[in-house]
Amino acid sequence: MQRVDDYSLANYGGMIADPVRMPAYAEALQQAVVPGAVVVDIGAGTGIFSLLAAQAGARRVYAIEPNDVVDTAREIAEANGFADRIVFFKDFSTEVELPEFADVIVSDLRGLLPLYTGNLASIIDARDRFLAPGGVLIPHRDVLWVGLIESREAYESIVGPPPERCFGLDMSAVFRGASSRGVAKTFEPSCLLSEPAPWASLEYSSLESSDAAGSLTLAPSRRGTLHGLVTWFETELIDGTGYSTGPGNATVHRSRFFALAEPVPVSPGDRVAIRLDAWCVRGA
Ligand SMILES: C[S@@+](CC[C@H](N)C(=O)[O-])C[C@H]1O[C@@H](n2cnc3c(N)ncnc32)[C@H](O)[C@@H]1O
Repeated sequence: MQRVDDYSLANYGGMIADPVRMPAYAEALQQAVVPGAVVVDIGAGTGIFSLLAAQAGARRVYAIEPNDVVDTAREIAEANGFADRIVFFKDFSTEVELPEFADVIVSDLRGLLPLYTGNLASIIDARDRFLAPGGVLIPHRDVLWVGLIESREAYESIVGPPPERCFGLDMSAVFRGASSRGVAKTFEPSCLLSEPAPWASLEYSSLESSDAAGSLTLAPSRRGTLHGLVTWFETELIDGTGYSTGPGNATVHRSRFFALAEPVPVSPGDRVAIRLDAWCVRGA
């Protein structure tokens, strides 16, 4: 059973205002949607991508969204004069049947990463059931990156502050489990101890699995303390148009930080071997 995300209207407002994500999606839709096209918008939210598709000349847009925000999206479509071309479904895409194939499927189901809450399974299902042969998927590809992080603040947000800063009390239960889940964080590039590197690539036109894995070695380029790993994504929405959510970027997306069991001093010449596995667990 899929769970409806508990985004507030303010969260959706933040997505629309994102100065990096929105122009890139608008550009991708401009390139992909030709007059008369049929478009499916999965996870339509406020309907912003559906409206842009209609503006670009789509004959029909199917906007699919299980959250109550879809009622606001209907109002917005009406207010902008596109109600006759956008058909809304208040449901998950996996539960919807469409009367025709789509020339373009657009979605942004990602949270911090594309890997959560059955998002990849939804894209695979939509591609296989809704997309016409030769149709366009936006995004086209997401590449997952990893970097070495020096940040005591981020580390303590997972493992907890040292006892002397907890009034002598043992509060460790609060932090149990956080290290395996990781936390949402934004980092400046100065926190990176090495050049980051890609660890997996999700090619949506051929993707068959919701899992991802990768092994790599990173080389610290300066002396410092390794507190953990950060992972983020770089998307290619359509050829030549995309953005990164990594350190130093200004999107609403934050990165996911995982702490080491213990901080480790590192220097140039050291090597850090990394293995990352993301398995899609039902309901996670
Ligand atoms: C990150 S928001 C994006 C909203 C909007 N497209 C935008 O860009 O502003 C993702 C939305 O996808 C919806 N969602 C997640 N899985 C879905 C699915 N399988 N079918 C339809 N909507 C889904 C969530 O409820 C949420 O509103």
